[in-house]
Amino acid sequence: MDLSQIRISPFSSKDAIHNFRCGESDIDRWVSKAPKWSEQNKARLFLAHGQGNSKAMGFYSLSFSSEDRNKLAGKRDRQMWGSGVPLIYLQYLAVQRTCQNCGLGKMLLVDSLRRAHLVSKHVAFYGVGLRSLNDRTTALYSKYGFAVAPDEDKFPLMILPIWSINDLFEGRT
Ligand SMILES: CC(C)(COP(=O)(O)OP(=O)(O)OC[C@H]1O[C@@H](n2cnc3c(N)ncnc32)[C@H](O)[C@@H]1OP(=O)(O)O)[C@@H](O)C(=O)NCCC(=O)NCCS
Repeated sequence: MDLSQIRISPFSSKDAIHNFRCGESDIDRWVSKAPKWSEQNKARLFLAHGQGNSKAMGFYSLSFSSEDRNKLAGKRDRQMWGSGVPLIYLQYLAVQRTCQNCGLGKMLLVDSLRRAHLVSKHVAFYGVGLRSLNDRTTALYSKYGFAVAPDEDKFPLMILPIWSINDLFEGRT
């Protein structure tokens, strides 16, 4: 797959996600209802597609969430925040089965973080959160600096603070 030919655009048509299959039936079911989530303002979806072809090869979805401050790793951060810690929540990230293992998942993840970075210039929040599905996805997110929150077990909450995202896009790594 030539990733330079892939575009990532906001969800705009039901046809684009028709028959999307990533191998996780919960995710496939969820994305089939994308028009509803968009209309209800519950999530914003962004689709990866080829140039001149709107069919989704992958997608991610973003919303806001609030977590307990005990989920923050650092003592100083826990002291700084009140009861609800605002996060941009990467609710789902998935790649069409036939397009997996070609780098598209990583491309979508970086794009979602770039979008969070942009939002942070306008609205303040602590960082990006997500729930990891399995050990391989935990390894993938860890590579980008996400850390598993304290006292998490199955589908662990992972958090990447905004300063790490700034470092990623402002060349301070
Ligand atoms: C996880 C997923 C988004 C990765 O996308 P991808 O385009 O296949 O992955 P990429 O080629 O960009 O990157 C590969 C990395 O993703 C991870 N990965 C690849 N396939 C995976 C799979 N089936 N399940 C979990 N992680 C996977 C690996 O950590 C891999 O890193 P490595 O190359 O160092 O081993 C994709 O496999 C998928 O949609 N899986 C089903 C849905 C899902 O699990 N979503 C994540 C919810 S937390």
